[in-house]
Amino acid sequence: MATRPERPAVTTLNTKGALRLKGKNVVLAFGTRPEAIKMAPVHLAMERIAGLTPRILLSGQHREQLQQALSLFGIEAERNLDVMTERQTLPGLAARILPQAARLLKEMESDYVLVHGDTLTTFVVAWAAFLEGVPVGHVEAGLRSHSLSEPFPEEANRRLTDVLSDLDFPPTEGARRNLLREGKDPDRLIVTGQTAVDAVRFAAGKGRLPVAPEGKQVVTVTLHRRENWPRLAALAGALAEVARTFPDHLFVYPVHLNPVVREAVVPVLEAVPNVTLLDPLEYGEMAALLAASRLIVTDSGGLQEEGAALGVPVAVVRNVTERPEGLLTGVLRLVGTEPEGVREELSALLGKGLGLLRISPKTNPYGDGRAGSRVAQAVAWRLGCGERPAEWIYAAEEASSS
Ligand code: UD1
Ligand code: UDP
Repeated sequence: MATRPERPAVTTLNTKGALRLKGKNVVLAFGTRPEAIKMAPVHLAMERIAGLTPRILLSGQHREQLQQALSLFGIEAERNLDVMTERQTLPGLAARILPQAARLLKEMESDYVLVHGDTLTTFVVAWAAFLEGVPVGHVEAGLRSHSLSEPFPEEANRRLTDVLSDLDFPPTEGARRNLLREGKDPDRLIVTGQTAVDAVRFAAGKGRLPVAPEGKQVVTVTLHRRENWPRLAALAGALAEVARTFPDHLFVYPVHLNPVVREAVVPVLEAVPNVTLLDPLEYGEMAALLAASRLIVTDSGGLQEEGAALGVPVAVVRNVTERPEGLLTGVLRLVGTEPEGVREELSALLGKGLGLLRISPKTNPYGDGRAGSRVAQAVAWRLGCGERPAEWIYAAEEASSS
């Protein structure tokens, strides 16, 4: 009797179309623009590791903004919960994500789940994984503002996620210390640097500048945080005054798709001649805009790291930042959230010379551009497919301790 042929090894296509042996399933789960941008380098690195199969599960907390973020990296999601609704509420969003994420993590035969940062998707997917008994790794773990009201609700999301996580990837030594103070096992903490640094380097030179500055100096602006909503229109008013004071500058503001944000800022700024309001930009264009800027004015988290990576100073429209390394280095300045104070700070920065450092990539306190690869290697180590990676050590810290 003829012997039956052996069952072929299960195969899968990676996003570049290459055939590879199926390994352990690592589900990268995310849902918003910043998570997509900062998880893309992890996905790209993991595709190169034998024994791991990265698979993307989207919550769909964002829709257009998320696709714009992913397109530059050429990576595609396998499943999408597609939960976004117009003017969604946080409890409604959480209620839609939790059961569906739990079901799909099982369907996708997840051996490991990776979440990123501090959005509602981050915590709710981590919770779903925990309830299903799937270990979770937290990329960009350990950031702390030490205030539950700012950023809201992100500070809670990241603390709650770190209660559940199996591996934590603090980007910096400071973030690692925060996790140690909370009693996390040092063996499960790997300092990787910020994947935002990898992402912005990947994007450099790949997108066109979305505006023609016509001899003006560019200032990039983004404001969208929930805790700033009550004063967003007033902050836009302060920005309009600054723009009128500095007609030789072009203020470029890609406005978040959230209707609450658009209704607050568009009416105040649309008629100011040297303010250009844009729809959200694809990541390559955004990186080009940031690189061409004299100053970045923002309440975003990721832009603080990208400014540092590009050597562009950042005025942070917050009272506190969970990314203090840039304050110490001198590339970030907290300008508060009170509109008159913000107007004065921005006017002083632009008028008297920035007084902020245009740091070089070598002194960037957030990373060296190889964070994604460290995360991927660490997951391989945890799943028994590789060695524990060497951690990122900030050169300035190395120098001061030697
Ligand atoms: C969310 C995150 C925040 C992150 C931000 C990044 C939470 C609680 N908040 O805030 O941490 O900094 O994303 O941008 O997780 N919308 C669209 N299309 C999109 C995206 C959003 O139309 O592609 C509109 C929808 O009307 C949606 C609204 O924006 O209801 C708000 O989106 P949501 O994700 O709830 O809040 P963000 O303010 O974007
Ligand atoms: N970004 C983008 N297009 C835009 C605005 C922002 O690609 O029009 C990028 C930005 O460069 C950064 C990320 O989106 O990488 C920041 O996202 P967001 O400000 O929405 O979230 P946060 O960083 O505040 O969590």
